[in-house]
Amino acid sequence: MSTLSKLAIGAAVVVQMACAGPEGPPGPEGPAGGGGGITASDAEALVNQKLNTVDRSLALWNIQSGLGTVMIEYNIRFNNLWFAGQSNNWDMARYQVKEMREIQAVAEVTRPARAPLLQAFATSFLARLDNAIASQDPVDFATAYDQAIAGCNGCHAASSSPDFPSFNFVKVTRPTASHFQNVDWTGQGTTQ
Ligand code: HEC
Repeated sequence: MSTLSKLAIGAAVVVQMACAGPEGPPGPEGPAGGGGGITASDAEALVNQKLNTVDRSLALWNIQSGLGTVMIEYNIRFNNLWFAGQSNNWDMARYQVKEMREIQAVAEVTRPARAPLLQAFATSFLARLDNAIASQDPVDFATAYDQAIAGCNGCHAASSSPDFPSFNFVKVTRPTASHFQNVDWTGQGTTQ
């Protein structure tokens, strides 16, 4: 977040605190003789704390993607990855794994309870895929891909929620068709 955005939010928080009624949170001590005002650094500390802590009462947190939304992108990228590998388009394959790590990072923040398993998956299986991609070995890539499939499904089986005792009804397999009909997985041939 830019300093400007932080300042804007900080200003909003300061105004909100200044206007807080009797039920509002007690304000930090102000500068000497300031009559309860708050300093810029107090405001910044408060804004940083608000923006870095998951708080489900904040609209900001409620509009973030949860794991279900993240999984849809994860699945698309994992699917793309297969076709990139099958086409020996190793830069595309490397890109897809990179994007999987990026979208996964969203869920690690918004669904912190899922973070340990997501990180374990990345450490075990995405790293294995990275290695296979770096060595540009199609056989090793297919092995790493199948192992990752087992990892996806292992996590689904091990995960639960208040609505579902297990997500073992989500079963990933090797894809048979690309989600993207308008992408040539062999690429443009400039970097291969
Ligand atoms: C942290 C453990 C975990 C890992 C690792 C994981 N998933 Fe998931 N996945 C889940 C959970 C939990 C859900 C249910 C999400 C929800 O709605 O809360 C899910 C849902 C899904 C769905 C259903 C999405 C939908 O809305 O139809 C797909 C598809 C999916 N995952 C694919 C994958 C793929 C592909 C991988 C591996 C590359 C993977 N997942 C790895 C936990 C995991």
